[in-house]
Amino acid sequence: MILYFSATGNNKYVAEQLAEAENDKLVPLKQLVRNKLYQLKIENGENLGVIMPTYWEGLPSIVLDYLEKATIELSGKNHYCYFVATYGCDYGNILSTAQKAFAEKGVHFDSLYAARFVDNWSPYYNVKDPVRNRRAEENGEKETREIVQQVLHREKGHSLPDQMMGVMAAAAKANYNRIRKTKLFQLNQERCIGCGLCARQCPLSVIEMQQRQPVWIKEKCTLCLGCFHRCPAAAIDYDHGLRNGQYVNQNVVLDD
Ligand SMILES: Cc1cc2nc3c(=O)[nH]c(=O)nc-3n(C[C@H](O)[C@H](O)[C@H](O)COP(=O)(O)O)c2cc1C
Ligand code: SF4
Ligand code: SF4
Repeated sequence: MILYFSATGNNKYVAEQLAEAENDKLVPLKQLVRNKLYQLKIENGENLGVIMPTYWEGLPSIVLDYLEKATIELSGKNHYCYFVATYGCDYGNILSTAQKAFAEKGVHFDSLYAARFVDNWSPYYNVKDPVRNRRAEENGEKETREIVQQVLHREKGHSLPDQMMGVMAAAAKANYNRIRKTKLFQLNQERCIGCGLCARQCPLSVIEMQQRQPVWIKEKCTLCLGCFHRCPAAAIDYDHGLRNGQYVNQNVVLDD
């Protein structure tokens, strides 16, 4: 089983490459959350891959919230468990955070990897230049090919050091929790064409279409920026991120 979360496609790309090489099944976290499926069973001899984006140096809140409710049963033996983080500039402490968070659920990763792609945090990073984006994607693709080989060889003990002290990572996490407020999204009503994609693709059903316009109906979300990046009319802004452009990984088909 390859469990993944992806808003703009980088993690979906990695998950798909691994699924193809491993002949394994893809499980989008978004579907588990939407369908309230909190019991995961990894069959005897089955492997578990977890592929996640780095948010504020750690795991996205959607993953942490899911784990709080989830049980993960590793049935029998011979499971190879691995974790892959994608990131844009620094992976921070996500690997050690993931190791701890999943260990609490009885999952001990044999190896942990990271692949650097385009940074989709538009409030800060400019994603307007397709040539630069492509270069970053090519780097991610190369690192993904290496990770696929390491996974195929069932490499054990691979990890990377934390990039910041625990206290700094805790501060980053607190900051993330502070800013993931939906009131910070701004809709340009004139641009919006009422297609409803922002609402359909939101992993936490935070957006509701009312009179053909999106309304954020919950106070907080996981801040994946899927609504922002995927809007075909560039009608959603978050913290002036639109000035830096929208991004989706063109190598995958993103579903709702
Ligand atoms: C809320 C948020 C926080 C992020 N924080 C970090 C970070 O701390 N370090 C980093 O390198 N990239 C960060 N990123 C960038 C993503 O980790 C990166 O672009 C990832 O590959 C996106 O995955 P996706 O395309 O599957 O959604 C952040 C992105 C978002 C939306
Ligand atoms: S995706 Fe964009 S255009 Fe479509 S409903 Fe949402 S805001 Fe409007
Ligand atoms: S409201 Fe937008 S940023 Fe927040 S979880 Fe939904 S799609 Fe992601």
